[in-house]
Amino acid sequence: RPPVTLPGLAALKREGRPVVMVTAYDFPGARAAEEAGVDVVLVGDSAAMTVLGLDSTTGVELEEMLVLARAVRRGLTTPLLVADLPFGSYEASDELAVTSAVRFVKEAGVDAVKLEGGGPVPLSRARAVMAAGIPVMGHVGLTPQSASALGGFRAQGRDLASATRVLGEAEALAAAGCFSVVLEAVPSQLTELLVPRLPGTVVIGIGAGPAVDGQVLVLHDLLGMREGVGARFVQRYADLQQAMVAGVRAYAEDVRERRYPAPQHGYGMPAEVLAALRE
Ligand code: KIV
Ligand code: NA
Repeated sequence: RPPVTLPGLAALKREGRPVVMVTAYDFPGARAAEEAGVDVVLVGDSAAMTVLGLDSTTGVELEEMLVLARAVRRGLTTPLLVADLPFGSYEASDELAVTSAVRFVKEAGVDAVKLEGGGPVPLSRARAVMAAGIPVMGHVGLTPQSASALGGFRAQGRDLASATRVLGEAEALAAAGCFSVVLEAVPSQLTELLVPRLPGTVVIGIGAGPAVDGQVLVLHDLLGMREGVGARFVQRYADLQQAMVAGVRAYAEDVRERRYPAPQHGYGMPAEVLAALRE
């Protein structure tokens, strides 16, 4: 397969073929995404929860995201690679946003960055990053970095004011030149209204219903590599957490029962060396 490009994604939209996006945070996750043939891989700031054990996305550092993005980059040749600008790495100024985005490109080889929100400030940051030559993916609806201000982790766009805000922010990001926008946790009917208004922008949904150009899920959610069930939009395709516990438990039992290691796991040495040692 040839590498996925921005024109390639735009073509998928035009042809009505769904874009498949998934998160990854390390080399094996990237290899799984590569071999499964996904179109876009996101080094999401959901890493805060999935791999760092934090309880919200706001705690992950830019330096940590860069480590993860480099590992993912090493595992990919085909999908487009996008990284989240983490909380604190772009809000203060356009200059800070450009500096952070440039680090992802130079140090981790990402193809694009994603940032949250479509109000005046995030719009200005998105424009500045794009002016530096780095493609930007927007993210509206439920934006976890500002979950506190949104009143918690809850669907957005269910009342007139909120729905109007989601529509306006997505349209503004598209008009500013974002090649794609993630739409998270909004009513499916709102998505049906919105997507036709964004003919040149690839709309990726998560909890936004089917009327989008593509879907994204968090790798650890879809593989069941976590405790608990997660949001209502999650569908599980594997139960890796259970498989990991079962594997480690079986190893522990084998060690305790002296079933492991077996003879074939050991190294031998020549008889004469052993004889000399015993003299
Ligand atoms: O951080 C993340 O995983 C995301 C996706 C859910 C869109 O932003
Ligand atoms: Na994110």
